[in-house]
Amino acid sequence: MKMPKINLRVLKNQTQKEIEKAENLKELDEIFKKYLGKRGELTQVLRLLEKLPKTKRVKIGREANELKNFLRTAFDQKAQELKEKAQKKIEEKEWIDITAPGKKPVLGHLHPLTLVKREVEEIFGSMGFSVVEGPEMETEWYNFDALNIPQDHPARDLWDTFYLKNGLILRTHTSPVQVRYMERNNPPFRIIVPGNVFRHEATDPSHEFQLYQVEGLMVDKDVSVANFKAVVGEFFRKFFKKEVKFRLRPDFFPFTEPSFDIGISCVMCDGKGCSVCKEEGFLEVAGAGMVHPNVFKNSKLIPKDWQGWAFGFGLERLAMLKYKINDIRLFRSGDLRFLNQF
Ligand code: PHE
Repeated sequence: MKMPKINLRVLKNQTQKEIEKAENLKELDEIFKKYLGKRGELTQVLRLLEKLPKTKRVKIGREANELKNFLRTAFDQKAQELKEKAQKKIEEKEWIDITAPGKKPVLGHLHPLTLVKREVEEIFGSMGFSVVEGPEMETEWYNFDALNIPQDHPARDLWDTFYLKNGLILRTHTSPVQVRYMERNNPPFRIIVPGNVFRHEATDPSHEFQLYQVEGLMVDKDVSVANFKAVVGEFFRKFFKKEVKFRLRPDFFPFTEPSFDIGISCVMCDGKGCSVCKEEGFLEVAGAGMVHPNVFKNSKLIPKDWQGWAFGFGLERLAMLKYKINDIRLFRSGDLRFLNQF
């Protein structure tokens, strides 16, 4: 049988050169397979040994085994070297300067209306009022009829309404929750109802088509306008953190009798008269009144058994006065230059 020519020295040089050139572990592995793998060149030489005559076999066998050990070590060393190189690269890339000052994460914060809403809830909460909610999609019954505003009553024009395709409307005020609550709960009670309301209106610096209201309702055997004045007075004092003068003036709402609007002494000019209060010294912030007997009736309460008062604040208005904001449209503009100030 013709033996292939075995030149271990050539094999050694060649292998060494290739190991030297390997740039990463994958390449090195390929080279290992090429020479020392199952079908590797050196492995094949070792396999052929037994076919050699004994004299040659011993000599070449020793040399081949030595070469195999030599190459293994060379592979191991190179592998180690490549691993260290890779590690170093990672370290360089991911190097962290632990002495550098930390980056401050940008903290989220609450929307000014949320802040004001929470504060209002807290103040009324401290006076024994619980927070109640109602649906934003409402029936005409709760939004109007039950509140003593019949279909053809001109007072409906006070609230420009969004009519929905499903036969419901977007509530124009939070007052329908008065009826919803009274239907299901027996007096005495005190509640506030914060929530979105919607009006089909053109917008300007003091008008929005989506507003945030807080309704208030207190019903008991014997409550009066005097109670009401005490409660709102306390609210203003706590909310504006100072003594605030306020006044009640006769007004009209179909669901209260008597009705009044509430004005507070202008917080911008302390009542002296300025452009915000149109030189009046007072600002209207809420509508209010004693619950109308028809509203009790529509809520399945007997009017002569109960007395109550209700109010409806515009939360935007309160926030504008508290933070001295001059355009109501800013609240829902999503403008970060505005929002980041809170
Ligand atoms: N619902 C009235 C409005 O939106 C405000 C109001 C509430 C008036 C409760 C009287 C009593 O204008």
